[in-house]
Order: sequence, then structure tokens, then C-alpha cells
Amino acid sequence: MATRHGNYIGGEWTEAASSRSFDNRNPADTSDLVGTFADSGPDDVERAVAAAHEAFPRWKALPAPKRGEILFRAAEVLLKRKEELARDMTREMGKVLDETRGDVQEAIDMTYYMAGEGRRQFGQTTPSEMPDKFQMSVRQPVGVAGLITPWNFPMAIPSWKMMPALILGNTVVVKPATDTPLSVVNLVKALEEAGLPKGVVNMVTGSGSRVGTPLMSHKDVGIVSFTGSTDVGRKVSEACAPQFKHCHLEMGGKNVIMVMDDARLDLAVEGALWGGFGTTGQRCTAASRVVVHEGVYREFVERFAAGAKALQVGNGLETKTQVGPCVNASQLETVESYVKIGREEGAKLVAGGNRLASGAHARGYFHEPTIFADCSPKMRVAYEEIFGPVVSVIPVKSLEEAIAVGNSVDYGLSASIYTQDVNKAFTAMREMYTGIFYVNAPTIGAETHLPFGGTKNTGNGHREACVQALEVFSEWKSIYIDFSGKLQRAQID
Ligand code: UN1
Repeated sequence: MATRHGNYIGGEWTEAASSRSFDNRNPADTSDLVGTFADSGPDDVERAVAAAHEAFPRWKALPAPKRGEILFRAAEVLLKRKEELARDMTREMGKVLDETRGDVQEAIDMTYYMAGEGRRQFGQTTPSEMPDKFQMSVRQPVGVAGLITPWNFPMAIPSWKMMPALILGNTVVVKPATDTPLSVVNLVKALEEAGLPKGVVNMVTGSGSRVGTPLMSHKDVGIVSFTGSTDVGRKVSEACAPQFKHCHLEMGGKNVIMVMDDARLDLAVEGALWGGFGTTGQRCTAASRVVVHEGVYREFVERFAAGAKALQVGNGLETKTQVGPCVNASQLETVESYVKIGREEGAKLVAGGNRLASGAHARGYFHEPTIFADCSPKMRVAYEEIFGPVVSVIPVKSLEEAIAVGNSVDYGLSASIYTQDVNKAFTAMREMYTGIFYVNAPTIGAETHLPFGGTKNTGNGHREACVQALEVFSEWKSIYIDFSGKLQRAQID
């Protein structure tokens, strides 16, 4: 019997109001039922928001360093259970164990980091224009935070949103992706075990339309943080607009690795393989485009294609596997449809191109790591986000052209350059209009203590992680204290 998981509302694990549940299956082997989860609707959201709303004044009143202590304990619990949580995650999401360990580690890092912010959250003190007047700024929480999280980083991304929200004194209602609710259940359980008071974090599982939509439009939700597609992000933004809700969006990417003719090619090939096919290409930071200088183009493509063909695709729980399945049938269909589009557009298929559906792959959503070479920048495979194991290679004649092509897409999350020339590295670093940039490393691998996010259609100006996350989940209050004993008029006296 698969375990049946409920919602977490007001500190209790409960069934959905409808008593219905949905299945969570292993994308590497769909006969493996990971668990069943509450198939919730607007009534459940209503209860969860009410619980969060009620818990807010008490949680806000708890001194931030005390909130930090609870987060520290939660990080310890996650650390202790890391292996088990990684296995659960591979089973529900598919990426290989090394990567799910990394995902849990990223949640641990963020939890420790934000726990530390309990003793910081610095504001400003600054001189007044007038004598005997003191002034400062302090942060205040927004209230109930509605968090809508994706399946590709099933624990890391929920932690990126939850931990800054909590340390600032907000309470939370989180809606996990339907493909990966177990990792959020596991995260919530760690917080529960760490002694988080009832109602401070609530979790409601279910579909975007029946849970996500009522959550983002609820009048008592003050801030919505969403990671997912640009199309859905636009809807979130529209739902938040009428009430001027804080709205943080982290959306798509079409990230580029630029390989110059002086690059260390072995390093560049290794980086392109990891950046393009790590997490089966299902990262918003994935290196789905590689722009290569004509001087090394032929050799790069040859080595890159050979490397992709050698990658072991399979069940992420097996140690020999390097690339797991796509997360679900619809994601696999998207990949297949783009492979078709690439062929029709005349891009040159140099590796992969097929679904894997026999033998060990018969019961999962597997696809070969696929490379299209000789792409032009505006081909759809080279321009649109695919979110799967498909990389497009584009030849260029110069650094300037590489930068122009790199910047020519609608997204701006991450970019990278491989070169041994410091002048080229610094030029590209300055000119790429992205939120993240790497030198001699692929486009993936952000750490929790630098801002994470992107420009253009990737985001709406906010950043996750680091102290920048505090901006998303708080409001500033400027405070003026006049101890002169008389009326002093700003800008006049
Ligand atoms: C994502 O793809 O949504 O920088 C997040 C990285 C990871 C996070 C990726 N640390 O690739």
C-alpha cells in the first residue's frame, strides 16, 4: 500500500475536503507508486490561509533570533535525513541521486543561511536634517505568503521561498508541484519536528487551477512567490495586480554557454554536457544553447556529440545513471515535439533524437540526450525554452557576435563563457544582460548566498536567495523619533 499523505493545515495532517487524492508515480518506472496526495480545492486553501492568518501575529511577535533557532533545528533534521530525502526525491522526480542529494543540500544551506538572518535583518540609522531627532529603518513582515513551487528542484526551491518568509515573521501556505509533493511534505515535517508553531507553515497539495489560483487571488495572502513557466507567471502577476500584492516571479530561461577559440575545449565540453544534460536539462538555468567560435566549432561539436552519446540514461536510483527521465509524459511530449521542430527547421541532429522506450526504459519517460548543431539563433529549438535534454549549438565568428546571439532571446537568467583571455571574460561579463554569469563553468550551479534570478521574461525584478530574498518578503518602515521637545518641520525649519 502506498502511503497516503494529507494536507498540513494549522499543524494537523488532514484529508482534502473532497476526500479525493491523486497518485504520485516514479517517472523512471510508472508502476512504482510513490504515494497518494490530497487532491485539494478552494475550501482547503481557505482553511490553510485562515490558519496562516491566525498564526501570523504570534509568529511575528516571536523575536527573529528565536525564529532562527527553529530554522537551525530544521536544517539539522534535514542534514540527518539527507540520504533518505534524496532517495524520496529521485523516486518522485527522476533526477539522479547525486543531484537530489545536492537539492536537499541546497535546502539545508538555505535554511542555515536564513536562520542566521534572524540575528541580522539590518536596517539603517542615519542623521536627521534636524537636531535632536533620531531616525532608522526596520523591516516588517508582509503577512501570509502564498508559495507556488516547481518540480525540478522539489525541496531546494520551496526552501528558497519558505525560509526567508519565515525568518522575517511571515506565515506560509505552500502549494507544491503535483509531480513532486513528497519533497515538500518532507520539508514541512522537518520544520514540524524542529518545533515550528502550528499554523506558521501550511501545505495544500493539488492542481494549479484548484489550489494555485485560489491561493494567489486570496485577499488575505499578502505576497505570492512563484517559480515556473513564463505563461503561468504572467497569470500570477495578473492575479496579484488588482490587490497590489507583492509578487515574486522566477520563470524560464534559454541560457547560453559561449565557447571562444582560446578556450580549454576539454573543460568546455565537460561543462556543456553537465550544463545541458544535468537534471535531464530540466533546470531554468540549463545550458540549452552553446555558441561556439568558428575556430574550434568543428572539434567542439564532434567532442560534445560523442560525450552526449556516451551518457548513461536510466533510473536515477542506479549508480551508473547520469541522466534520468523527463518528469512526466507531457514534458517528454514537449521534448519530442521540439526534436521534430528542429529537424523540420533544418538543424543538424548530431546526437540523440529519440525517445527510449524499450528494455530498462520501457516504463519511464526517457529521452536520449539530443544535440542540434549548425543552428541559427532564431530557430525555435535555439530560441524557445524546451526544458528537456535538447541542446542547440550555434556557430559564430567573434566574441561580439557570441554576445549578440547570447542576448538575443527573451530570457535572461544565466550565461557563461569559456576563454583563457581575461579581456574577453570581462567584456562578456559586462555585456550579457542576465542575472547570473559564469566564467569557465557552465550556466548551472548557483549557491544560496548570492542573489538568484534573471532579467527580461525570466523574472519581474526580484531575486531569490542571499539577503535580496529579504526584500521580497518584507516591507520597510522608516521611523523618525523627535526628542527635541518641540515641533520641527522637515524641509522648512
Ligand atoms: C532552477 O533551475 O530552477 O543554479 C534552479 C542552479 C541550481 C538551481 C537551479 N542551484 O542550477
